[in-house]
Amino acid sequence: MREKFFIQGLTKQTTCNIMLFGANSAYIYYIWLVLANGKERSIMAKIAVVYWSSTGNTEAMANAVADGAKEKGAEVELITASDFSADSVANYDGIAFGCPAMGAEVLEEDEFQPMWDAVKGSLGGKKVVLFGSYGWGDGEWMRNWEDDAKSAGVELAAEGLIANEAPDDDAVANCKALGAAIA
Ligand SMILES: Cc1cc2nc3c(=O)[nH]c(=O)nc-3n(C[C@H](O)[C@H](O)[C@H](O)COP(=O)(O)O)c2cc1C
Repeated sequence: MREKFFIQGLTKQTTCNIMLFGANSAYIYYIWLVLANGKERSIMAKIAVVYWSSTGNTEAMANAVADGAKEKGAEVELITASDFSADSVANYDGIAFGCPAMGAEVLEEDEFQPMWDAVKGSLGGKKVVLFGSYGWGDGEWMRNWEDDAKSAGVELAAEGLIANEAPDDDAVANCKALGAAIA
């Protein structure tokens, strides 16, 4: 009789243990799911493609840069130069800046240059690339722009990308690769 109660006690204990273990496992699995999802969300890079364009050529490049970053899994925002400021920089892991050659081998002076001057000192620790379209020159504006970025302490993630007038298929592919480089 004593043995029977002893064995029944053991069985109850084992059943309790199994139920507790089951509940704990489910709880641990739930916590893991929450953490894993949170981690997945937080590793998705946030990218801004900030550009100025008068006739649409640099805008077409900007769209391709954005596509390249999206294809790599990043969350991307296309923003025109007048809507971007130094305060916006902290919201992004990487920023692609696009501006065509204007004036005499300079950046566009009314909107893009003032924005760039205000922002370039805040780009430390960000993945940054430069791109833009040009016409009759040889890309001098981009070389000057890269030098200016480096002087401001900006670490460029890739060489500045230039396309002659409207980007052709090769240029679009290069733009996509540029977007992927910062995603
Ligand atoms: C006012 C003005 C100035 C320009 N200056 C240059 C220049 O210095 N060097 C150059 O290669 N192209 C120059 N271009 C040509 C543009 O860079 C080229 O057409 C470019 O594709 C325009 O890009 P967007 O369509 O994004 O505005 C100039 C165009 C304009 C309208």
